[in-house]
Amino acid sequence: MIITSRHKNTLTNNNKPIGIFDSGVGGLSIAKRITEHLPNEQLIYIADSAYAPYGDISNVQIVERVNFITDVLLKKNCKAIVVACNTATVNAIDQLRDRLSIPIIGVEPAIKPAEKISKTKNIGILVTQATATNKRFLALVNKYKNGSKVFIQPCLGLVELIEHGQQESSEFKHLLKSYLFPLIESNVDTIVLGCTHYPFMIKAIKDIMPDSIKLIETATPVSEQLERQLIKYKLLSNTPMNSPHQFYTSHDISAQNEIFSQLWISPIKLELLL
Ligand code: DGL
Repeated sequence: MIITSRHKNTLTNNNKPIGIFDSGVGGLSIAKRITEHLPNEQLIYIADSAYAPYGDISNVQIVERVNFITDVLLKKNCKAIVVACNTATVNAIDQLRDRLSIPIIGVEPAIKPAEKISKTKNIGILVTQATATNKRFLALVNKYKNGSKVFIQPCLGLVELIEHGQQESSEFKHLLKSYLFPLIESNVDTIVLGCTHYPFMIKAIKDIMPDSIKLIETATPVSEQLERQLIKYKLLSNTPMNSPHQFYTSHDISAQNEIFSQLWISPIKLELLL
């Protein structure tokens, strides 16, 4: 087959990497699912750990960081961006989509599926402080709660402890209990994990909550939405990836190497974001 320049461009675009970022290691929960669902796609992951947690900084600062990180990913030739952070999505994705013409996939707390599953019609949502007070998030809750009672629980401190691999510590368990007990008392039967760090504390939640409680996360719907967008923009890779995934952090590499390798499928080479 003769490869015309149009074909060449198409092939090149399809083989470009996908940029994915979070305030820290939380987005790895999404990145892992993407690699399972779309094994031909190469990922460039950025953890903005120097500025984590986003949950504690202002909307203006979150927008600045999101734009900075996205510009880095664009310079690295990414064909699509996954904002693997609920806090960054609800605070900054609209302006990002206004600025860019490539696919931008965000992550938002999965209220709609939780409402469908819940029998008691009492739903808990675990989120960061900056998500809990965000207008876009509160509008989403109102749109999809469909008569259910929704208990929004900001979980200060958990992201920092997960960033340091402290999910087994007594401090973590104590803090988590203080957030979960009010939900148990409110008779919730479904809990939405509204932060991408929280899938890494599922075991700790299950140790505290009754087995019957359903936990809802968003990694699968995000991977499926990414696939739909790549197909729509004719950007899906149909050949095995020829370069390994890349991982960057804006914080100290030596402090983070271990937690990255622990949460990823295999040991990784972490690079400093300059
Ligand atoms: N993983 C981010 C999220 O989904 C954590 C936010 C933070 O850094 O506070 O919201």
